[in-house]
Amino acid sequence: MRLTEEQEKMLAGEYGRAVEYAMRIQAGVGRVFGAKRMVPITRAHVALSAQDADLWFVEKLVGLGGKCKIPPTVNPSINLAYLNKHLVEIPKVGVDIVSATNAAYRKIGAVLSFSCTPYLQQNVPSFGEVIAFSESSATPYVNSVFGARSNRESSQSALCAAITGLVPEYGLLLDENRLAEVLVEVKADIRTDFDYQLLGWCYPLKHPGPEVPAFVGIEERPTPEGFMNFGAELNTSGSVAMYHFVGITPEAPDLAAAFGGKAPRHRVTITKDDIEDVRRRICGAPGKIDFAMFGCPHLTIRQVGDIARIAEGKRFAVDVWILTSSLTRELADRMGYLDTITRAGGHVITDTCIDVPPCWYPYYGKSAVTDSPKCAYYNEIRKIAFKVRPLEKAIEAALVGEVRE
Ligand code: F3S
Repeated sequence: MRLTEEQEKMLAGEYGRAVEYAMRIQAGVGRVFGAKRMVPITRAHVALSAQDADLWFVEKLVGLGGKCKIPPTVNPSINLAYLNKHLVEIPKVGVDIVSATNAAYRKIGAVLSFSCTPYLQQNVPSFGEVIAFSESSATPYVNSVFGARSNRESSQSALCAAITGLVPEYGLLLDENRLAEVLVEVKADIRTDFDYQLLGWCYPLKHPGPEVPAFVGIEERPTPEGFMNFGAELNTSGSVAMYHFVGITPEAPDLAAAFGGKAPRHRVTITKDDIEDVRRRICGAPGKIDFAMFGCPHLTIRQVGDIARIAEGKRFAVDVWILTSSLTRELADRMGYLDTITRAGGHVITDTCIDVPPCWYPYYGKSAVTDSPKCAYYNEIRKIAFKVRPLEKAIEAALVGEVRE
């Protein structure tokens, strides 16, 4: 890889040890992927996780004097104050790691957004921007829906990019790698936000390869929530950093543009039966539930509003946790949704992830409902048996303590 004079100085430590350390890692990644040069970024998002490896790495950079040149937004961890008050006293080991992680990211100059949907608020790129985003629903969203350019970064490589302001140029930063190679014919009726959860889960089962797919047969433009669900599930049952919806997403106005004029290398058909098969496999049977959890990825204001409308004047039969960003919670407060949900007995919690071990342990081994296959899958390890239903059905189940169909 050829570095500029300035970048050589960064690598040689002339801009401090943290920049040198981050550049060494990035130069290594660049070499592995055959990058010819480093290019500047305009944005970054770090999938902070408040777990040991994440904390070790950010503290290492802080210890070397690191400061972000491009302040990255960060993923959720745990809202200690809220959970201590409303669920359980978080064990000291959890308090310590969350506090230390937050302190380290504050010190390094991150934007403490604590949300996994930065692409909907706070860190929204434009077409063609070169950026470094980690987080499973974020990378496909910025590449596919906005036409920004990010590889599927790890939290560590995204943090290095935030420190240096650069990324090695390979993969999805290059025109030729953004072209589709798989033609996916959707012969199922995909309309609702929940349909996109199922489609996103289904595609990697039919074609597990890393190539960019182009979908045809999607009749209407998905909502932002539909795109969000689709990307999250593509990267739970598989690993897809970019896709096209022909006639809908910006780099695929037609098939020729999506494939760069070439023939597809692979063809996949997704039928109604395929979608039903996914539904049978991941949604779970009707039955009693102990609690409900929503917001993986963090819910939008429209989704919080939908929940408030269904719960208006009623009372939840089980604990209900609605995870969202602090901006969305503030909006929900202004719009009266927060009051409605709280009066129904539900919780709207900010800054928190469904997958951070120390906080949800009172629910281990229990039965629950969610609208998110990703939430259900990640919690299998904790023996929480989630039934997965569309958001409205799941809220109705939380009102009666049972998934009835
Ligand atoms: Fe967000 Fe955590 Fe789910 S980061 S997407 S709530 S696993």
